Parts: sequence; structure tokens; C-alpha cells
Amino acid sequence: MSAVMRLLVVGGTEFISLALVRALIREGHGITVLNRGRRNDRLPPGVSVIPCDRKDHAALQSAVASARFDGVYDIAYAPTTGEDVAALADALAGAPHLLFVSTGRVYDHALPIPFSEATPRGYYWGDYARHKIAGEDALLERHRTRGLPVTIVRPTHVLGPLNTRENETFFFDRILRGRPVLVPGHGGWLRQFGHVDDLADALAAMLGNPKAFGQAYNVTGEECVTQVGFVEQIAEVLDRPVEFRHFDPALLKRFDKPGPVFGQNLVYDCHAVYTTTKVRAELGIRPRYTLASGLRQTWEWYRKEGLDQRSVDFAFEDQLLALLPR
Ligand SMILES: NC(=O)c1ccc[n+]([C@@H]2O[C@H](COP(=O)([O-])OP(=O)(O)OC[C@H]3O[C@@H](n4cnc5c(N)ncnc54)[C@H](OP(=O)(O)O)[C@@H]3O)[C@@H](O)[C@H]2O)c1
Repeated sequence: MSAVMRLLVVGGTEFISLALVRALIREGHGITVLNRGRRNDRLPPGVSVIPCDRKDHAALQSAVASARFDGVYDIAYAPTTGEDVAALADALAGAPHLLFVSTGRVYDHALPIPFSEATPRGYYWGDYARHKIAGEDALLERHRTRGLPVTIVRPTHVLGPLNTRENETFFFDRILRGRPVLVPGHGGWLRQFGHVDDLADALAAMLGNPKAFGQAYNVTGEECVTQVGFVEQIAEVLDRPVEFRHFDPALLKRFDKPGPVFGQNLVYDCHAVYTTTKVRAELGIRPRYTLASGLRQTWEWYRKEGLDQRSVDFAFEDQLLALLPR
């Protein structure tokens, strides 16, 4: 086990940052979280809390300036701009290892796959990419000019318990009830998923490693799958049949407020495939979960939580299905 450290996690109560808090506690570290306090009931015992909105830079400065941390995880997207990331970095006393959770969406997705850390970044993904790139650059500049130890982590689609995006659970809901799955277009765009606990373990493993200072790493699972192939894998985990109904995405324009039709953010017209060679070769970090085992573990959690009993509104999908030829 690594030496016990005093760590700050910005966020700490949702999906990725909560999984990280649990992983860091397993390592025996002392954890403080900084957030607005909506779901601190989820925190394991012994975690300290700093109530603060990270967008309020004066409050952030006075909240963290008097504390000393060995490591800091900047995770909460609020939406977090380059200025917000810089404000946190500049408010911290000393020079803790600062790890920033960015995204694979910083890469210019008009370029050929797979995307490695050397792929040029770009604004294909709009403001989200703009903010994440600005956050990365604010930290990398502080590494170059002041020697601040920083590491950038770029996850792709993350799956697992408590996902803030309705992706795998969207399909659990439908396949479980024998509902057809609507597929926009051909459904053949490639997607790559990583399990939240693998991401949390990777973030914990990088902590304090000088090899990771000033570096950016893709962190995700090792399998790519088409959109339809992802749903097929879920049907296999549930051991149920699935019926696909393909439709022309132009149909969605007929609706003022179209509902989600294929998960929360899995509909887009490009591949999303990433290499993980760098994190494996340089840091020896690799995932424990395959896509199938990650989906099985998430399905077990979904049932344990009673989500298989929840009511789901299919009204929008029914309207769309009524427009499709049989
Ligand atoms: N989910 C994915 O598939 C995925 C993929 C790639 C990258 N990412 C990145 O991973 C990170 C984590 O995503 P996530 O979906 O797990 O969680 P998230 O929605 O970014 O973060 C939620 C956490 O941040 C806190 N928070 C939110 N707004 C805040 C604010 N203004 N000030 C202080 N704390 C605030 C929340 O607590 P309070 O509400 O109580 O403040 C909560 O603890 C994000 O940076 C996201 O961009 C996610």
C-alpha cells in the first residue's frame, strides 16, 4: 500500500468522484471532499466535507487556502471552465499532485480513429471540449512554468452503478420489459466504454507517481463495440431477446421536444475509439473489467437497488414507433 496521504476530491458524491472516494478510502488515505452538499449522505464515514461552490472563486480560495493536501482530484464539472481549474490550482497551498478528470471528447473527432494522446485536440464537441481543453492547458502551463505536478486523465463513456448518464440503464429498462429498442440510422458507430471502478482505481494508482507528472492519459476499457453491438451485449447479460427498430434520425425534427431514444449520449455520427497504450506502458495500469463483466456487475446493482421496478415513461418512443412501417 502507498503512504497515507491527505487528499482533496472536488465533487465526491456522484458517479466517478464517489467511486474514487471509495477507492482512496480502501487505500487508507484521509479524504476531504469539496462540493455544494446535495448528496453528502452517500459519503462513507470519516470523510471530511468543505461546503463550497467551485464557481465562486473567492469562497474557494478561503475554503482551501488554510488546508494542506498531498493530492487533489479536480473532478466536478459545473460546467468547469479553464478559469475555474486555474482558480483551484492557484488557491492550493504548497504543490500537491493535481489530477484533472478531462474527457476523450477533447480530441478532434473528425480525425481518423483511434485517438491517442498525440491526436490533435479540437472543438468538435463544442463548449464541453473548449472548457476541458482550457482546463488541461491551465494545468499543463503551470507544470511547465512552475513545476506544479499535474496529470490529465481522459475517460470515454463510463459505465457502472450510479451512472449520471442513462446509458446502460436505458437499455436495461427496455429489454427487461420486452420493449423494442429504437436505433437512429445504422447503429454502426463504434463506442468504447470503461467501468467506473477501473477509472477510480487508475486515478488512485497514479497518485504521487512522478512518471505521470505533466502527462495526459486515455483511461478506458479495451473493447470497441458498435451502438447495436452494445445493446446486444446487454441483452445477453439479461438473457432476454431484443428487437431493434431502425429509424431515420431526421424524423426527430418533427418533434418540438424529442425524448432520448438511444441512451442519454450514445447518439452521434462518428466513431469514438481510443488507444490505452500510454497508460499501460508507462504506468502499468489496465482495467479489471471486460465490457461483459462490467455490464453484469451494473445489472446486479440495478436489480439490488430495485430499479427493475421503477416506472419508465415510454410515451415519446410510442409516438415515434407509430410513425414507422411494420
Ligand atoms: N460520465 C462519463 O461518462 C464521463 C466521461 C468522460 C468524462 N467525464 C468527466 O468526469 C467527471 C465526473 O463526472 P460525473 O458524471 O461522475 O460527475 P459530475 O456530474 O461532474 O460531478 C458531480 C459531483 O460534483 C459536485 N459538484 C457539481 N457542481 C459543483 C459545483 N459547482 N461546485 C462544487 N462541486 C460541484 C457534485 O456535488 P454537489 O452537487 O453537491 O455540488 C458531485 O459531487 C466530469 O468532469 C465529467 O466531465 C465523465
